[in-house]
Amino acid sequence: MTKLLVTGGAGFIGANFVHYTLQNRPEYEVTVIDKLTYAGNLDSLNSVLDRINFVTGDICDRELMDKLVSETDIVVHFAAESHNDNSLRDPWPFLQTNLIGTAAILEAIRKHGKRLHHISTDEVYGDLELDDPAKFTPDTPYNASSPYSSTKAGSDLLVKAWVRSFGIHATISNCSNNYGSYQHIEKFIPRQITNILSDISPKLYGAGENVRDWIHVDDHNSAVHAIIDKGRSGEVYLIGADGEENNKYVLETILELMGKEKDAYEHVNDRPGHDMRYAIDATKLREELGWTPKYTNLREGLQATIDWYRQNDEWWKNEKAKVEAKYAEQGQ
Ligand code: NAD
Ligand code: DAU
Repeated sequence: MTKLLVTGGAGFIGANFVHYTLQNRPEYEVTVIDKLTYAGNLDSLNSVLDRINFVTGDICDRELMDKLVSETDIVVHFAAESHNDNSLRDPWPFLQTNLIGTAAILEAIRKHGKRLHHISTDEVYGDLELDDPAKFTPDTPYNASSPYSSTKAGSDLLVKAWVRSFGIHATISNCSNNYGSYQHIEKFIPRQITNILSDISPKLYGAGENVRDWIHVDDHNSAVHAIIDKGRSGEVYLIGADGEENNKYVLETILELMGKEKDAYEHVNDRPGHDMRYAIDATKLREELGWTPKYTNLREGLQATIDWYRQNDEWWKNEKAKVEAKYAEQGQ
């Protein structure tokens, strides 16, 4: 058995990673460490709690991370403050968790000689113009825009520095926008689905022309496993499934799939500094590691996601009023 320590395993992608690993990779023994912030939800792991070790704790706690890392073989590091809008309201938790937390993990990895896979985002590269034929590659210079993305960029640089200075065994992946089940309802797609289910008008920032490169969360996680299996130490892999669409199209598709008029939404205040477009060139991942995505039909993926939120209102409904009250303060 290989021991896997998953940080942030009660969050959206981390919880899906735990489920994916238990279903597809029985050779792993899984421990999760999660602080259970507003974004962490133990209910996302309810059905597998008897098959994993769950530790409630903070990745910034150096003593705890030292102990947990000493007891594992590989760390997969998802834990982060992850929402751009929150980082514009209050950057401090982002600086603490994304930078200090990652440093605490790196020091434990260095001391105990273990393997790290660091989960990061395409937002570290800044944004692209709508008509730019370019996509992000591992050679694109870092140019992050928000407190969230700049702390993720900083965490990537910490990992690179620990690789170069101390020779730790680490890989990094930068992925595009994920969607699927268990995503917090502050995020674009689940916010709109749960708005419609709650008879609240969906909310589009600005004109809705901003483009995101959507990928199903299981495709992200299969790529993470490919990197853990075959990725070269010190390398960066970009994860994306050629899913570029603008926000207006995504919202109109959700409305249509839920039997509503395509224009039944409101335009609200735009996000300050709003990145225009993200796009991933995943050639290295595809060619070097032989990875291919499975869920490339966004319409079908959105339908399955809508069905999941419809069938699991217990999972999200207690959060809804709180999330919308926070957005309302900013006219969003
Ligand atoms: P999320 O906000 O849904 O989950 C984050 C999890 O981390 C939560 O369970 C939270 O409780 C936990 N956490 C936060 N601070 C912690 C701390 N100090 N100690 C321990 N646990 C803590 O985030 P997500 O969308 O699942 O993103 C996971 C990772 O993937 C992040 O690193 C994010 O930057 C990256 N990423 C996300 C996307 C996306 O589209 N969501 C895309 C690319 C990369
Ligand atoms: O690209 C990867 C990143 O994707 C991850 O690193 C982040 O953790 C993740 O949150 C996501 O960031 P975005 O800012 O792109 O995602 P968000 O869901 O917040 O917004 C997606 C787009 O939708 C963005 O252009 C803003 C817009 N939006 C968002 C909300 C919440 C709206 O138009 N209306 C909304 O209500």
